[in-house]
Amino acid sequence: MVLAKWFGSLLLLLITIFTNAYGAFVGVNIGTSLSNFPPEADVVSLLKSKGITHVRLYDADPHMLRALSDSGINVMVGVLNEEVLGIGESPSAAASWINRNVAAYLPSTNITAIAVGSEVLTSIPNVAPVLMPAMQYLHKALVASNLNSRVKISTPQSMDIIPKPFPPSTATFNSSWNNTIYQLLQFLKNTDSYYMLNAYPYYGYTSGNGIFPLEYALFQELSPVKQIVDPNTLFHYDSMFDSMVDAAYYAMDDFGMSGVPVVVTETGWPWLGWAKEPDATPENAQKYVSSLIRRVQNDSGPPSHLSIPINTYIYELFNEDKRPGPVSERSWGLFFPNGTAAYALSLDGSEELVTGNSSSAATFCVAKPNADPDKLKSGLDWACGQGGANCAPVQQGRPCFQPDSFQNHASFAYNDYYQKMHGAGATCDFDGTATITSIDPSYGSCVFTGSSNSSTGGGGMFPPTAFGPVSPQLGGSSKLAVTRTRVLILAAVLGLLFSV
Ligand SMILES: *[C@@H]1O[C@H](CO)[C@@H](O)[C@H](O)[C@H]1NC(C)=O
Ligand SMILES: *[C@@H]1O[C@H](CO)[C@@H](O)[C@H](O)[C@H]1NC(C)=O
Ligand SMILES: *[C@@H]1O[C@H](CO)[C@@H](O)[C@H](O)[C@H]1NC(C)=O
Ligand SMILES: *[C@@H]1O[C@H](CO)[C@@H](O)[C@H](O)[C@H]1NC(C)=O
Ligand SMILES: *[C@@H]1O[C@H](CO)[C@@H](O)[C@H](O)[C@H]1NC(C)=O
Ligand SMILES: *[C@@H]1O[C@H](CO)[C@@H](O)[C@H](O)[C@H]1NC(C)=O
Ligand SMILES: *[C@@H]1O[C@H](CO)[C@@H](O)[C@H](O)[C@H]1NC(C)=O
Repeated sequence: MVLAKWFGSLLLLLITIFTNAYGAFVGVNIGTSLSNFPPEADVVSLLKSKGITHVRLYDADPHMLRALSDSGINVMVGVLNEEVLGIGESPSAAASWINRNVAAYLPSTNITAIAVGSEVLTSIPNVAPVLMPAMQYLHKALVASNLNSRVKISTPQSMDIIPKPFPPSTATFNSSWNNTIYQLLQFLKNTDSYYMLNAYPYYGYTSGNGIFPLEYALFQELSPVKQIVDPNTLFHYDSMFDSMVDAAYYAMDDFGMSGVPVVVTETGWPWLGWAKEPDATPENAQKYVSSLIRRVQNDSGPPSHLSIPINTYIYELFNEDKRPGPVSERSWGLFFPNGTAAYALSLDGSEELVTGNSSSAATFCVAKPNADPDKLKSGLDWACGQGGANCAPVQQGRPCFQPDSFQNHASFAYNDYYQKMHGAGATCDFDGTATITSIDPSYGSCVFTGSSNSSTGGGGMFPPTAFGPVSPQLGGSSKLAVTRTRVLILAAVLGLLFSV
């Protein structure tokens, strides 16, 4: 068993951690390239049970939009890339799109945004000339229906239209798109909308050939010799995510356009890849997503725009098994179609974020975040030995082995001991390393017993517990050791590298 650096994480199910009553939100993209997309009502139950308040659909599927009515969930709908041309050439096509896909559902389905196409400039550049007309016609149609104040229009862009995103202070849009970008930014500003950015540190890292440390991509702490600093502003960048968002702000500034907020319409990390994708692991996905949620929910913006929170949509809700390409393409999902979490999500010190219904929920005894590793190991040994806990599920090859950390294994063992023994007066303490939580730490087919038999999540078709195999074999713990990329970089050198 290897001690992971991210040792102090409490394993939690996603319940309500997406909700932050006061500020930035973390929403989720719902792709539909699944061989068995669940009934829409079940998808909505899943969203609600996890406290997800914002979703983005890639289209305007009537079943999904109906299922989302009166759910309290904010919905971004999408104009498909193949629809952009027709709409851009015809104001009446735009008006009918709005009537059919937006006006028909408001207000019971709370549609708040329309994403026009997906990475149009880089994925279908031949359609770029009609992108702005399409957005303008859609906007006119919204105005005509008096919906323009509640529904914003924008268009998600890939990071690829900013050829040199580092250092952020010198980032500019690819000048081939000057005209379109100029009109786009004017439009966003005039309509009080926002810039939609698809920001993938996973690709920034994997295509960087070792220039950036993995920790930087995963929001992990950087050692003093690996600080990433913009040589012009001397801003420290704690994460590639922040640096990408700032690159977008600086690129907009370059057009003299300030005051258009960035919303991250896609970001995430794949949890499975093939041999050539060694960084697509459940551990990394878990680190990325849980750190992302924490990062966004601290409500601060990137260094250049600290006061603008970074609203963000995670890519994505379900694994899309029908997507072509490498294995990682099909492994971005937080959940399987049956509602089982694809990997355990961890969140440090998150309990204050949890506003769930604890009165009826079960309680669990888990290892504290940041507990002393030696004490955890003693606690684990005691629980599995003298304590009589069933520790079989945390053995290699069994459902609770991954993530292979004392934190995870101790949580399982503590809980098993506690559930068996607390009727007889046992406490959840373990030398101060254990704590009670109402959040079901179960994930995949690793099921933690709760103290009550009431359902602790899910609904409809989604069972609160899962059986059977879930994570594929991941080659034990060696993957964790690989993450320590020893790249010593001076900010200025990095700046040079990226400006040649
Ligand atoms: C719809 O979403 C907007 C934006 O978040 C919010 O202000 C409004 O209260 C929501 N409306 C309903 C009916 O939930
Ligand atoms: C800018 O965009 C054009 C058109 O898509 C492309 O050919 C060119 O390679 C891009 N430039 C950079 C530096 O990425
Ligand atoms: C695009 O805009 C940039 C910055 O405004 C400018 O430096 C560049 O010359 C423009 N390029 C073209 C092709 O218009
Ligand atoms: C919020 O996150 C940013 C970026 O990681 C960090 O610099 C800042 O200190 C955090 N603020 C708080 C209050 O935690
Ligand atoms: C909390 O649980 C009670 C009893 O099961 C239920 O009536 C109530 O609606 C729940 N509240 C929330 C916010 O889920
Ligand atoms: C579930 O709880 C109820 C009431 O607390 C109890 O009567 C029932 O036997 C329990 N069922 C199981 C399977 O433990
Ligand atoms: C849910 O689906 C996953 C992936 O197909 C599978 O491994 C898991 O066992 C399933 N869980 C349940 C409860 O059916």
